[in-house]
Formats: sequence, structure tokens, C-alpha cells
Amino acid sequence: MKKIIVLFFFVASILVLAQTNEVTVDAAHLQYKINKNIYGQFSEHLGHCIYGGIWVGTHSPIPNIDGIRKDVVEALREIKVPVLRWPGGCFADEYHWMNGIGPRDKRPSMINTNWGGVTENNHFGTSEFLDFCKLIGAEPYFSGNVGSGTVKELSEWVEYVNSDNVSPMTELRKKYGRSHSWGVKYWGIGNEAWGCGGNMTPEYYSDLVRRYGTFMKNYGKNRIFKIAVGPGGSDYNWTDVLMKEAGRYINGLSLHYYSFGDGKPAADFTEKGWFDIMKKSLMMETLIDKNEKIMDKYDPGKRVALCVDEWGNWFGVEPGTNPAFLFQQNTMRDAITAAANLNIFNNHCDRVRLAAIAQMVNVLQAMILTKGDKIVLTPTYYVFDLYKVNQDAMLVPTKVKSAGYTFEGQSLPAINCSASLDSTGKMHISLCNIDPDKGEKVSCDLVKFKADGVSGKILTSSKMNADNTFENPNVVMPESFSDFKLADNKIEVNMPPMSVIVLTVTGRHQLPPPIELKNPKSGLQYKYYEGQWRSLPNFNLLTSKAEGVIDQIKIPEKNSGENFGVQYEGYIKIPENGNYTFYTNSDDGSSLYIDDQMIVSNDGEHASQERSGTIELTAGFHKIKVWFFQGGGGMSLDASLEGPGLPKRSIPADMLFYEPK
Ligand code: AHR
Repeated sequence: MKKIIVLFFFVASILVLAQTNEVTVDAAHLQYKINKNIYGQFSEHLGHCIYGGIWVGTHSPIPNIDGIRKDVVEALREIKVPVLRWPGGCFADEYHWMNGIGPRDKRPSMINTNWGGVTENNHFGTSEFLDFCKLIGAEPYFSGNVGSGTVKELSEWVEYVNSDNVSPMTELRKKYGRSHSWGVKYWGIGNEAWGCGGNMTPEYYSDLVRRYGTFMKNYGKNRIFKIAVGPGGSDYNWTDVLMKEAGRYINGLSLHYYSFGDGKPAADFTEKGWFDIMKKSLMMETLIDKNEKIMDKYDPGKRVALCVDEWGNWFGVEPGTNPAFLFQQNTMRDAITAAANLNIFNNHCDRVRLAAIAQMVNVLQAMILTKGDKIVLTPTYYVFDLYKVNQDAMLVPTKVKSAGYTFEGQSLPAINCSASLDSTGKMHISLCNIDPDKGEKVSCDLVKFKADGVSGKILTSSKMNADNTFENPNVVMPESFSDFKLADNKIEVNMPPMSVIVLTVTGRHQLPPPIELKNPKSGLQYKYYEGQWRSLPNFNLLTSKAEGVIDQIKIPEKNSGENFGVQYEGYIKIPENGNYTFYTNSDDGSSLYIDDQMIVSNDGEHASQERSGTIELTAGFHKIKVWFFQGGGGMSLDASLEGPGLPKRSIPADMLFYEPK
């Protein structure tokens, strides 16, 4: 009997252990920066996003800055919106930008056929949008009209906004009060070309991308970043055709994906509706994985960014509101899916380098709801507030072993997570428990980061459909969180049901120590290979044609002009502890490794292009390796760096060494 009892407790304790959620936060290899643009937003001329939500006009009794709501600006500044997409959406492909410039009382009106057939008076146009972006500190992202606009129209918009030359467009801009260009970087070539943007085939649209893109010119120092329409959800054939036919002409490919509810208003659901939206929302991971695989086929160097520039939950509108205005409440359910999606984007930041939640104010999964002069900050807003610490921080890879959240026989992982290391050396662990019924114990094991302090913030509620209303605006708000224990470099966290927790961990990033060299000599060793490649081969498996020592990372003078590759190896002497950004600028592909970790990925056949990566290093010698290949056509290679007290420049000869065998 005693034996049976002992066995029972043994098995029970194993089961309990097996149920603990385990997160490994591994700071050994930090390779990718979480582009802050992942935290971008979308604003469309739809319902009360622009009119009433952002723009109230200069004569409004609602406090405004030249027509733009002051309360909305203040709230958005707080969450550090990095980039803002405008004017649509479907609206973009009917928008004629020239109707939105000049004196407002002279601007022609139009019908907003997509969103309720209402009159659009064009009072919020190019300069108002750019003023708004400036006020909130966001980079503008224009969505160009390809569906019903001409090449000339889009090319002239770029010229109006970005050129400082003398031309009819720049004269027009000057006439309307703006002497110098704004220098807008992000431009979309249409919107949802497979749907409201023109119902095109991917083949036809690829040609339009090439054509419209050709006439979207760079002016001055500004280099525009062209984003083509990507797939809606799981239309992988669209991605394949676009990447094959137009991939080399673009900088970004969009992905649109909404999690649709059952048509009922956002706060009207039971656990079935909760589970259903969690499941749909977590599909984002599969969509990104599959699209990434296709993009990798055509663009192994990950030059083209995947821009998830419309995402979020789409529910029925609030009772009594115009169904075409897409005005929906926002609950704890939205907060949880926002956190889960941001974790997915962070974890895929090598390819996902821009995203825009739909939408910013009063439409779909909004940050802010307005009614007259009142505003409400939604649970989703507070997730963006908690997660802003991840903007431009280095991704710290995590592995999650999660318990299941089971509902009516179906199961999803209860816990999802991402982590980052910011430029001040603090680590942030963003945890999300999607289970609305059950709290979870999560054990976070820190690797190569010696923690000495932890603080936390939490967003949670005891009700699945808890929301912030105009009457009760502060129901769902972040609070400080302390239900965790730090011991043996592990953080044991007690996560309540349906909670988002961001932990900030102070301590020391344990960097690989510098390498001791016995007899360092100036220069790097290089090996020269010949062969025909479309991306970098594994030089370690090839036999070199020539070898030598070179003072800097440059193409050896003796080369065949085409179809060759070079491997450079040695050590770089780092002057002081800190973050260093390395760049390669090459034609064709290249990659740069520090201490055997890939820092710059610039692979593939391409014209001269720069890519970069950042790594924290201790003072002293570190291994450096650069791979380069040349196909045909132009050829160039430069490797540069930037670090504490070091302005960006080609890696100088006096930092490069090798050790003769
Ligand atoms: O965000 C609302 C609409 O959803 C956008 O206008 C369109 O691009 C998408 O279908």
C-alpha cells in the first residue's frame, strides 16, 4: 500500500511539473532588431476614423491644433506610433490626391462609395495628414491609387510630396504654402488589388507594380520604400506570383488578415466567441510562416519586408451606428489577441518589418473611441502602450512549452511570448495567457542574462468582455504586477486568466568574452572561389582557387569579373563594450558574421544594396567572417560599422587582424 501511495505522489508530481509552462529566454545569440514599424497603425477615410476621430476642423469647440484633435494627439504620442498608413484601404483606390490640397473651402467633394456613400469633403488631405503625423511623431505611409488612378497621378503625388526641384508639382506645393518637400519614405502601390482595389489577377497586378513603381521616383536623398499589395489571408499563389514577377522591384509586400467574429457586436459573446477569435487570431503565425517560406525562395537575403499593414478583429458594429462605419467596441478579448499578434510579429522580425493595425480611431480594433469631445482609450491601446518597450530593441529568442487552453474538445497553447533587449540593456519579456478561465504558472529561464531585478505590468480583467466606455473609461487599464519570484536566474510568474504581462528585467547580458590572440597580424585571410550561384553557397564545402591576406573587406583585384565568390576570415578589435551595427553594401549577395553569428544578411542576386545588423560586444578581439558572391553585371562590396564613439565608416584596416597558423 505504502508503495502505491509513493508511486501515486511520484506520478502526480510529474504531472504537475509537466503542466508548468516553461519559457526559455535565450540571450546568447541576438540577431535581429524588432523594427519599431511593427507597432504601426492604419487610418482610413472610413466612418469616424478621420472626421470626428482625428480631424474636427479649425472652428470646432473640441480643442484642436489646426483642426486636429488635441486629446487624440496626446494619447497617440504616449504609445509612440512609429508609422501611419493613409488614406485607405479601399478608399485609397478611389482617392484623387489633387482634390485634397489647397484652400479647404475650394476642395471638391466626392462620394465615399466604399464606406456608406457619404460625402467626403476632402478637408483632410495631404498636408493635414502630414501635419498629423508630425504631431504624433509617426512616419507617414501613403497608399497610392492604382485601381482607378493613373501612373501620372501617382508619380506626381510622389513629386509633390518629395521633390525640391523646380517643377509644376513643386510650384503647386509652394503656392499652397509649403516651400520644402516632406520626404515621405513609405508608399503603397495600391490596396487589395485582388479585391476592392480592382479585382485583378496576380499576374496583371505584378505588371502594374513594375509600371507604377518605375515612375515613383526618388528625389534628393530620400529613398522611397515601395510596398506592393500582398495576399489576403492564405492566398499563397498571390505571394508566389508577386515575388516571382515583381519581387525585385519592391521593398515590401503586404499581408492583410482579419479575424472575423460572428456578426454580433464586439462585447456580445460567450466563451465560444472568445475561443473562436483566439483560434483565428493565432492563425497569423501560420500565415507568416508560409508566406515567409515563399518569399525566402525568391529572396533568401530577406530584402523584401513582409508588411502586415491591415490586421485585427472585425466584429459587428455597435447598435444604432451606421453599419458601413465599422464602429466597434473593444474588450479584453481584443487586448489578448493584440498581444498575441504582436508577439508573433516580434518573433518574426527578420521578415516582418512593418505592420499596421486596423484602425487607429473609431474603426474596427481601434486604439481610441471618440464621442463628441469625449475619448476612450481601449484595451488594445493599453497593449500597444505596454509593448512599446520592444520598439527597435533586439529580439531575444524564446522557446515556449505551454499548457493547453481547451474548449469543447479543441485546444490552443495557453501561453505565448516574446522578449527583447533594449539599448539601455534592459530585457523585456512579454507574456500572454489566452485562457479566460485558468491562471498559469510560467517559469522563465534566462540564458546568458544574469538578472538582478524584475518589475512588471499587467493588463487583465475578471470578465472576458470587460471594456472601457464613455461612462466608465478606466475599467481595463494596466496595473503594476508583482506576482513573480526571481530565484536561480529563473522568474516564476503567476499569470491570472486572460492576462498580458510585460516584465522588465535588469541585470547583465552575458556576452561572449573577447578572444585571446597570441600573435595577431594586420589584415584578414581570404579565399577566392569560382562558380555560378544565385545566392551564397556554403564556401566551407568548396575548394578555393586562390588564397591570401587583404587589408580590408573589398573584392580582391584578381577576379574573373563574374561568377566568383570570396570568404574573408579573421578578427576585429573592438575598442569598448557596447552595441555595434555592422553593414554590408554589396552587388550581389553578402553576409557578415561576428563570433559565428550571422549579423548581416544581404544574400541573393541584387544590385548594390545595404543591409545591417546590431550586436552587443565586449572590448577586445572577436571573430569576423564575410561571405560575398558575384553573379553577373555590376559588382561591389563594402563592409562598414558604427558603434560607441564611432561614426559609420568602412571597417578600417587597423581594426582587422588574423592569426597565422
Ligand atoms: O479596414 C477596412 C477595410 O478592410 C479596408 O479598407 C480594406 O483594405 C480591407 O478590406
